[in-house]
Amino acid sequence: MRQSVNGAAERRSRGIGRRGLLGGGLGAGLAVGLGGPAVAAPGAAPSDAEIHRRFNPRSWRSVRDQFRLSRDYLQFSAFVLASHPAGVRLSIDEHRRRLDVDPYAYGAFRNDMDRSKGIRERLGAYLNVPAGEIALTDSTTMGLGVIYTGLDLSPGDEVLTLDRGFFGTDEALRVRALSTGITVRKFALFDQPENATAEMMVDRMRAAVTPRTRLLAVDWIQSSTGVKLPIRMMADALAVINETRDEADRVLLSVDGVQGVGVEDIDLAALGADFFISGLHKWMLGPRGTGFVWAPAANWARVHPIIPSFSEASILSWFYGKPWPGPPGDWNSPGGFHSFEHRWAVPAILDFHEAIGKDRVAARTLSQAARLKYGLSRIPGVTVKTPADPAVSSALTCCAVDGYTSEQVVGRLKEEFRIETTASEYQESFVRIGPSIVTTPDEVDQLVRAVHQISRT
Ligand SMILES: Cc1ncc(COP(=O)(O)O)c(C=O)c1O
Repeated sequence: MRQSVNGAAERRSRGIGRRGLLGGGLGAGLAVGLGGPAVAAPGAAPSDAEIHRRFNPRSWRSVRDQFRLSRDYLQFSAFVLASHPAGVRLSIDEHRRRLDVDPYAYGAFRNDMDRSKGIRERLGAYLNVPAGEIALTDSTTMGLGVIYTGLDLSPGDEVLTLDRGFFGTDEALRVRALSTGITVRKFALFDQPENATAEMMVDRMRAAVTPRTRLLAVDWIQSSTGVKLPIRMMADALAVINETRDEADRVLLSVDGVQGVGVEDIDLAALGADFFISGLHKWMLGPRGTGFVWAPAANWARVHPIIPSFSEASILSWFYGKPWPGPPGDWNSPGGFHSFEHRWAVPAILDFHEAIGKDRVAARTLSQAARLKYGLSRIPGVTVKTPADPAVSSALTCCAVDGYTSEQVVGRLKEEFRIETTASEYQESFVRIGPSIVTTPDEVDQLVRAVHQISRT
């Protein structure tokens, strides 16, 4: 069947209007019922509905009980890819069930548009930015592609990035350089991560910027070292540089924030990033396959959507053959049908975090991280590679043990002490530890004792 322009003309001549085109799904406001028996049979494992019903957000034990994470190991790498709390599992199950019954009616355009709008509103409230400026993605990496492929850059423009940054940023920029002839230059914010300070990082950034620099692409918290970049100070220093530049020549600051979302008590409006890119399936513990990009509207105006969105504005523009106004976050949300049961369960993870309190999540996580860094720092032969100063460190903690590779330490922690950690997969690999709301201060102490034993034998 001939599609596109002919299809649109045909529908116009048959008088199919906006509702007809977009109204093929169910309306907004469909409450997700939490299916399944509320109480398990005696002796049976509790159902998700029962686990969810028992949730007491004031109790950290109850928070941990919301997860089916194995108790065979202490879970210090749970942030790598989320395990879902019961509320998210229930929401996913309910959407999946309804999609399986009638995917067209339940999954068609209108339902997704309404739900996506609701998700952007919830995320906007959580992040403290306008909902219309949030694009929905399937991952951080997809968001990096949205910005680094779509941003208006010209041959000869320079992009700066970091020598220990996430490989997805490097790859997105490498490919962009091939297609557009931009220059990508890496530089170091510090020599040894453990000695990094905010002032040093800002000074090095200032020295790296040249008249041709248009973009600085960084991670908020580096997964290679655990160093947290002083984004606000960097943004302020760039603002001084940008004062003497034309609007089009400004240096934009783009931040991959995935290692901080769900850890830090985040306020995006105050952070200072020009673009902020994250997944929701690491520390946030949200549905696997979900993420977002935020930018102020003026910065979105410099980005071309790289994948057609299935937004109302984009479909109506196509239908009526003229640009249809719509929020930039909508335009820049890559379209196509998604694994909707996961995307539409995002509100359930926001419910979870809001019930506990964003500030309490941050305090619980960061206090364990401080305890961990202190404990490790007292072990002879162990170097904590992540600085102790909370201004430049977060939850993710890296260390090295004399005489061992990081893989050896991670292997021994798992086999001998039943503790799950990871080795950072970078040129220089460190043991990477993630205390979080599914670990406890006692478990942190166990981990420190285990590292101590390993360092002695
Ligand atoms: C800094 C950073 N960004 C992005 C990613 C990938 O995130 P996603 O799976 O959401 O693409 C990772 C780790 O997997 C990471 O450490």
